[in-house]
Amino acid sequence: MAAVDNKVGADMLDDGLKRTRIKNTVIAAHFPTVFMVREHDGGDTLNQKLEELMLRLEKETTNIASRTSNIGGYHSEANFFSRKEPEVAALRDLVQQALDDYVPNFLAGNCHVPPTNLRMRLWGWGINMRAGDINFQHVHPDAKVSGVYYVSVPPLPSGSAAEEGAIMFVDPRPRAHMNRVPNQTTEITLQPKPGMLIVFPAYYEHAVIPFRGPGVRICIAFNANM
Ligand SMILES: [Fe+2]
Repeated sequence: MAAVDNKVGADMLDDGLKRTRIKNTVIAAHFPTVFMVREHDGGDTLNQKLEELMLRLEKETTNIASRTSNIGGYHSEANFFSRKEPEVAALRDLVQQALDDYVPNFLAGNCHVPPTNLRMRLWGWGINMRAGDINFQHVHPDAKVSGVYYVSVPPLPSGSAAEEGAIMFVDPRPRAHMNRVPNQTTEITLQPKPGMLIVFPAYYEHAVIPFRGPGVRICIAFNANM
């Protein structure tokens, strides 16, 4: 009699252990790196004017490349957007529009309570790069948000690697590099084209991979603080 009672008790226990069911599951990406790429149509005239301006500034103004992450090339002072040329004002409008679209997403992705009524300060500079010039891996520590607009991108000669002249971004989670899984993505490269505008967090480490061949790669980079 006692043995039968024990068997019934064990069956009931087994039934209880198997009763657990999944109630709900959340798989999320924590700490997103908010990144924006925008392309523009109809920018040939703007890009031509900006190219002429940047080639003129290279001849007429101080090159501060050696004080920056650039090795070679021309780097203007960081007061580009205070210039009076209409093409600078037109580009500034495109950059401001991009920031207006990007910043709310950046704040929503980074803040548990997104702040309101932030005052934004914007500044920019131009960079001309030719074959072999390098922009070493760096961040923009004075800013919250950074970006770049591409004015002119020379076509890569045949035999070039796909990444030549690309901008490269590095996984900004340092501990994610600790013990990598096979094929883990640690860098992302983006091949620029004229009229492309990208915006990213200022802490997102990046570099420009040198290219070979003729032509000049011209971009206007910017920072925003708030
Ligand atoms: Fe940069």
